[in-house]
Amino acid sequence: MSDLITAWSPEQKAAFGKRPMTFHHGLADSRLFEDDALARVLDAYPAELYDINLFDFDADGQHTMRTGARGGRSGAEVLEGVKEGRIWVQLRRAEAWYPQLGDLIQQAFAGISGQAKGFKPIQMSGQLILSAPGAKVPFHADAPGVVLFHLRGRKRIWIYPADEAHMPQQGMENILLKQQTEDLPYRRDMDAAAQVFDLEPGMAAAWPLHAPHRIENLGTFNVSLSVDYQTWGSRLINGAHYANGVFRRWGMPVAAMEKTPVLARGALWAASLGLKRARLVEDRIKGLERSFELGTDAPAEARP
Ligand SMILES: [Fe+2]
Repeated sequence: MSDLITAWSPEQKAAFGKRPMTFHHGLADSRLFEDDALARVLDAYPAELYDINLFDFDADGQHTMRTGARGGRSGAEVLEGVKEGRIWVQLRRAEAWYPQLGDLIQQAFAGISGQAKGFKPIQMSGQLILSAPGAKVPFHADAPGVVLFHLRGRKRIWIYPADEAHMPQQGMENILLKQQTEDLPYRRDMDAAAQVFDLEPGMAAAWPLHAPHRIENLGTFNVSLSVDYQTWGSRLINGAHYANGVFRRWGMPVAAMEKTPVLARGALWAASLGLKRARLVEDRIKGLERSFELGTDAPAEARP
């Protein structure tokens, strides 16, 4: 077992992947997430893997999102901008582009696999997320499994049941068919069904596959590492959702995923491989454009 993950109680072992849960980790002891290290990483990061987002929320919690580019700003200036604004910066594929971090992710997942019985991730990808004191992430669900390692600052996460009322199956089909972003319809009264955790540095959160969640920073600059993973189980389910989404468009009946036996999921997954190659459904996500550049014409909140 890796020392990066603190030993789990029997309750934590039983909860991983089945119920929302938190645990402790030692990633922040590495000094990889301090200002000067982050500024260097920001300077060198490939522009196409570097997202700058700004969300506006109304009183009902409904949001609009704008995505921007860093422009000519240095890493230190971008970091300053995040600390002062409502923006958040996401560095995708951090396991590859921040190599020391890639090693830590491997060690951390070895530590999780050593404790969560039968957990065998086959693919992992890290997003390093820097977010402003007032930043919020709207209600959404991720297609892969996720472990969120919290590193700096404080944030609150609401995790909702992955049931039809909170995460409609057709919504996940649309996410996998790239017909919609990962955002889902949200109403304040859904919060009654949520489990809520306040994350401090050194804590990590995990939840069942496709469980929707939302996040609010608690007045401090935040650094987190979100690691997406696939297992054979999640790959079969997501392939099956993809095939179901195509079949639903063709007017064919689609069964509820929890009532679809593993063999049938496997057949749907196999079908999805051919359907994906055939590109029957047009990607509606890739056209979303970056609407501001940090500095010059940025919204006031995003200006360093
Ligand atoms: Fe997420």
